[in-house]
Amino acid sequence: MPTLHFPGKRPHLPPPATLRLESVVLGDDATYPPEDNRLLWGDNLALMAALMPQYEGRLSLIYADPPFFTNRRYRARVGRGEDSRQPHTWRLAEGYADRWASLDDYLAFLYPRLVLFHRLLAPHGTLYLHLDWHAAPYARVLLDEIFGPRRLVNEIVWVYHGPSPIRRAFNRKHDTILMYAKGDDYTFHADAVRVPYNPNTVATFKASPKAGFGKVPDLKRGKVPEDWWYFPVVARLHRERTGYPTQKPEALLERIILASSSPGDVVADFFCGSGTTAVVAARLGRRFVCADATQQAIHTARLRLMRAGAAFTVEAAEGLTVSPQPFPPAWQPRAAQEQVCLPPEALARAEGWEVGFVENGVFVSTAQAARPPRATTPPPACLPWKRHSRPWAVRLLALDGEMWQFQAPLEGGSIHKR
Ligand SMILES: C[S@@+](CC[C@H](N)C(=O)[O-])C[C@H]1O[C@@H](n2cnc3c(N)ncnc32)[C@H](O)[C@@H]1O
Repeated sequence: MPTLHFPGKRPHLPPPATLRLESVVLGDDATYPPEDNRLLWGDNLALMAALMPQYEGRLSLIYADPPFFTNRRYRARVGRGEDSRQPHTWRLAEGYADRWASLDDYLAFLYPRLVLFHRLLAPHGTLYLHLDWHAAPYARVLLDEIFGPRRLVNEIVWVYHGPSPIRRAFNRKHDTILMYAKGDDYTFHADAVRVPYNPNTVATFKASPKAGFGKVPDLKRGKVPEDWWYFPVVARLHRERTGYPTQKPEALLERIILASSSPGDVVADFFCGSGTTAVVAARLGRRFVCADATQQAIHTARLRLMRAGAAFTVEAAEGLTVSPQPFPPAWQPRAAQEQVCLPPEALARAEGWEVGFVENGVFVSTAQAARPPRATTPPPACLPWKRHSRPWAVRLLALDGEMWQFQAPLEGGSIHKR
C-alpha cells in the first residue's frame, strides 16, 4: 500500500489541555443535561488528548471540516442590515487563518488529528472528513494508512454553485467528504436519509412493466441518496447564515448525522466553526462535543445554540479566558416581578443576552434570548428570573464577539414577589 512521507509526520499526542468550566447554559428545549453537550475552546489536539480518558472508543460520529489548505485568511461578517453587494462597507471581525508554510506543514498538522479521530471513534463509529481539491487526495492516503483502505465507505462529493472569477479553468464547485468507518459493523441508517426518486424515473416505471428489467423499486419509500449531494451553500439570504466564514449548510450535517448516528449518541466536531454540527445534533436528539480554536467561533456557536434552546456547557483550555466587560451605566438592567429587563440602549447592541448567576466563577445561564441571524429587531427586553435567593447576573453578547457582564449587588440582587 502506498504511504505518504513528509517531515514532521508523527502521531503526536501533546500534553492534555486542562479544561476550565466557563458557563453552563440551561436552555428550554433541552433533551440532555448540559454536561452531556460540550462546547470547547482551544487547540483541538490538546483538547482531544484531554478527552481521551472519557471518550476513547466511544464517539459514534466525527464530522471534521478543517482548514482546506487554501492559504487564505477568513474574516467573519458581523454587521447587521448591510448591503451584501458592497463589500467595502461590511463590518468584519477576525475569523480564522488557513495559512501554511508548505503542504508538509499542513499535513503535519492534519495527521496527528486524524490519528486521534480514529482512536476516539467507537467500533461502530464513522469519520466524515470534509476537504476540497487542495488536500483531499493526500488525506485519503493518510486515512487509508490509519483506518485501513477497506474502511473507506464513500467518497462523497458535495456539489453547489455560486459566482466565480475563474476564466481559465472550470469553476471549482465541489468539496470532497471522505467517509471512513472504524469497523465492519458501522452505523448506517439508510431509511433515515431516503430521498424521493427523480420524477422521470417514477414516470418510466409507471409507463412500462419492462423498465428496470422488471425489477420495480419501492417508489413510495424513496431511494438512498447517491454519493454526490447537491445542497446550496449558505448564502447571504439564508436564514441560517451567521456571518462566520465557510459555514456549512445544516442540510448537509442533517444527512450525515441521520445516516451515521442514533438518538442519544455522541457526535463530535473538533473544527466546529459556527457550530453547525452542534445545532443539528441537538435538534436531532444527539449529544455533542464540539471544539474550535477561535473565540469568535465559540461565541457564534454559543449564540446559535442559545437560539436553538439547547442545554450545554462552555469550557476553555487553560490560558484562554473569557473576559466580559462591565456594563456601561446606560445599560443598567432592571429587576422586578420575577423578571430582569434591559433598556433599549443595551438591546440595540445585543445579538443575544442571558440571565443567570455566577457560582465559583462559572456563569450559569438560566434564561436566554437571541435575535434571529441578521435581524434588525432587537431580542426580547425581559427574561424570567425565579431563583429569588441568589443575586442575579446578566450577560450580553454582541455579534462581533464582544461580551459584557452585569452582576447584581448581593443586597438588592434578589427579586421580591409582589
Ligand atoms: C472550515 S471552518 C469550520 C466551519 C464549520 N463547519 C461551520 O459550519 O461553521 C474550520 C474551523 O477550524 C478551526 N480550527 C483551525 N485550527 C484549529 C485547531 N487547531 N483547533 C481547533 N479548531 C481549529 C477554525 O477556527 C475554523 O473555525
